[in-house]
This record gives sequence, C-alpha cells and structure tokens, in this order.
Amino acid sequence: MDMFVVRGGRPLRGTVAMSGSKNASLPIMAAVLAVEGPVTLRNVPHLADVSTLASLLTRLGVDIRRTENDELRLEVVDASACVAPYDLVRRMRASICVLGPLLGRRRRACVSLPGGCNIGHRPIDLHLRGLAALGAEISVERGYVLAKADRLRGAVVDLSGPTGSTVTGTCNVLTAACFAEGRSVLTGAACEPEVVDLGEFLIAAGAAINGLGTSTIEVDGGPTLHGTRHAVIPDRIEAATFLIAAAITRGDLRIDNVRADHLSAVIETLRQIGVRIEREGLGLRVSMGDALRPAEVCALPYPGFPTDVQAQLSALLSLAPGTSVVTDHVFPDRFLHLPELCRLGADIRREGASGIIHGVPQFSGASVMASDLRASAALLLAALAAPGDSVIRRIYHLDRGYERLEDKLRPLGADICRVTDAAENVPLTLVPPLEPCDTAGPPPPKFLQPRSITAELPDHPI
Ligand code: EPU
Repeated sequence: MDMFVVRGGRPLRGTVAMSGSKNASLPIMAAVLAVEGPVTLRNVPHLADVSTLASLLTRLGVDIRRTENDELRLEVVDASACVAPYDLVRRMRASICVLGPLLGRRRRACVSLPGGCNIGHRPIDLHLRGLAALGAEISVERGYVLAKADRLRGAVVDLSGPTGSTVTGTCNVLTAACFAEGRSVLTGAACEPEVVDLGEFLIAAGAAINGLGTSTIEVDGGPTLHGTRHAVIPDRIEAATFLIAAAITRGDLRIDNVRADHLSAVIETLRQIGVRIEREGLGLRVSMGDALRPAEVCALPYPGFPTDVQAQLSALLSLAPGTSVVTDHVFPDRFLHLPELCRLGADIRREGASGIIHGVPQFSGASVMASDLRASAALLLAALAAPGDSVIRRIYHLDRGYERLEDKLRPLGADICRVTDAAENVPLTLVPPLEPCDTAGPPPPKFLQPRSITAELPDHPI
C-alpha cells in the first residue's frame, strides 16, 4: 500500500491546472451504455475510479480506449449483458450509475447494492423509487437490485429525500427517462454541475431535456440516443482543494482550467474567512490575507457549500483563531477525518452533525491514516501546512479522486514523496525524539527525516 511522506511548512506557489471532474465523468461514462454509436469524451481524468468503472463497462459490452490525444473513446459493442457484479460494484459506489442507463436501453438491469461507506449511511431508495415511478419493476434479492421494464412511461418523479436531493439518483432517473414514452418531470432534482454536465451530454446525444441546473427537469423520451463528442467540466472539488492548499500553506497559486461559477459558495466562504481570491484571466489567483477568521459553515446540496469540501475546510479553520463550527447536512456522519486531524495538532470535537473547531497556532507533523477520499485530502492539506514530517497512509483513497496529486504539488514547492510499502503489515511511523528530563526549557520540536523513517516491529504473533 502506498503512503505519502510530506515535509510541511512550505508555501505553495505557482500555477496548476485542474483535471476533468471525476463526479461528472463517472455518470457520463455509465450513460454510454444507453447510446448507439461511438462516444468521444475529453477531460476524463486518470483516476482509479475511472479505471474501476471502465472495467465494469467492459464487462457490460462497452469497448473503451484512450486515444493518443488523451480522449476516451467508448462504444457499445455487445448490448446483451445486464449484470453489474458485486466484485466490481463494491469497489466503487458510483457503479450504481449503470442502473438507469441499463434499464433505459436494455430494459433489464441486475446491479449489486453498493454496500457500506466510510462517509455514512448511503441508501439508494430514491434511485429505486424514481425508476419505479417510470414503470420499472424493482426488487432487491440476495444483495442485488433487479430492475426490468418492457416499457417505461413518462411520469412525475419526486427525487427529494430527507437530506435534499440525490446526485447519482438524479443521474440514473434522468438517463432512464430519456427512454420513457412521453414526458417525465423530475421534481426535487439535484442541481449539481455534474448532473447538468450529464444532461448536456445526453442532449448532445439526442435527448430532449429542459430545466437542467434547477430542481425541476423535464424530459421528453425517445427511442434512441446517438454517438457524440463531449468535454467534461473541470473538477470543482479538486479546485476547491487547491484553493485551500494555497491558503493553508500561506502560499500564492494561480489555478487554471477552473469554472469559478461552480465554486461560488466555496469562494464566498473562503473570502469571508480571510482568503484572497481574484479572477486572473480564465483562472483564479488565491493567496492568504492577513489573518484567518473563524466561521460557521454548513455543507448543503448545490449551490450550497459542498460536502466534498467540508473536511478540507475543517483543516483550514483549524488554524483560524477562535471557534468555528462546520456542519454537514448532506452526510451528517462524514467526520472520520476529525481524530486524524487532531493527531496533526488540531483541536476539534464532534457534536452530532458538526465539528466544533478551536483554532490552534499551527499543526505538527504526525503519522495519520486516510479513511476516505476527501478526508485524505484534508489530512494532506494539514500535513502540507505542518512544520515537520508527516506520513499519510492508505492514500489509495486519494488516488480514487485526485489525478497525479503529488506531481501537481511538487512543482508548486511541496516536499512530498510516495513510498510504496511492499510489506503491507509493517507500518511506517514517525517518532518524536525523547529529550533527557534535565534539559532546560521545553525541547524544540524535532522529527525524523522522511528518508530515515523506521519500520515498526510487527505485532507479536501470540
Ligand atoms: N440519499 C437518500 N436516498 C437515496 C440517495 C441518497 O436518502 O436514494 C441521501 C444520502 O444518504 C445523502 C444525500 O441523500 O444524505 C445525498 O446523497 P447523494 O445520493 O446525492 O450522493 P451520491 O450521489 O451517492 C454524489 C457524489 C459524492 C458527493 C454526493 C453529495 C458521485 C459519484 N458521488 O454521491 O461524492 O459527496 O453526491 O454531493 O457523484 C466524493 O467525490 O468524494 C463523493 C463522495
């Protein structure tokens, strides 16, 4: 398992370009199942999640290849398979995005339930309710969703749930509705830019869709969708992570290939807490103002502050003098990063769906464990700011959603290296040296150098 070794405390400076959006690429790639003819996608990032979905789509009869100019070319070559097996779906929840396209085009789908997740309870009842409203027969048997429909009929479909709408649920119902006879009206639909991007891809493929980006989407179904070309939007969550990276390291970055209009809540919140963000050409310029200010922030569905940036913001607010409160209304249990941030010196306690953050003057390097994608990003941000050395383990979570992250950070001045630990069960650790008791005054913080990290003894085999 790979890990990052980071020597923090260096301001990040320079220019960095954002990749294509992971969460837009995945439902668009899945929607290719519903298209007849070749599809060419630009800006699909090189990520573990993209590879996982590509494996599943290959199993479902899609021919996929990267062209020389880094476009993804996809075409259905065999439309007979309808089963998304557990061994692939369990590796990535977004695999559930094949359900709507399979049902719409092939009229049959057998998709493994995605299972548990580190960011909290993630049911798919709204996906199933929405597809049933279009006339599908749905059952759940032996851990699989079975969906079939000889015909789908346009209907009013309510997609709102207890915590707002559902992003991938809207994607599933939207794609299936393209094949329903007559008009479908999706109410309580997700407004996220990634849903809009999927809708624009479907329109380019021949679908009749109105109301994208609002909570009411109308779809006039038809018999087919045809091959097309599409450029995926830039990743707004990656951009938000780099905005925070500049602020937390007191650096100065220019961020290119970014859609500022997709980042309004993030930019507004960061400005409120003292981060300087300005447009520069087509990009954004970000640096730290004089001082960070504490804040109360709620993660909400788009256009609210994104849950996918909640952990990274918590890392930044850990350095704001005073008390901040970060609440997640979308995933109220998405707080596994808090104890690990505390290992890096933060002072945060959880209260229900909130993290109560008491600002500290600085982080200190430590060994930490990543628990999910955005939690890992928060730990990396804190490690980049922390004087001393840090080790972040289980970075396979980061590789799921951030393209070549260390290669993007290094030219900006980050001291970060990827260490491959062949013996998975022999963890690496950083040990602060113990000073003799009679030393006058507190010892200065000193840590072992990244290259002299030592292997701990394995557990005693009793
Ligand atoms: N929900 C239900 N019933 C459902 C579906 C969702 O109650 O049938 C609830 C969830 O429990 C949650 C809320 O609705 O409280 C929102 O869940 P949603 O379905 O919107 O999440 P998702 O579609 O599974 C996508 C992103 C997530 C992102 C969320 C929220 C993809 C592939 N994933 O997940 O991204 O956090 O929307 O914006 O698009 C990430 O990239 O790190 C990530 C987790």
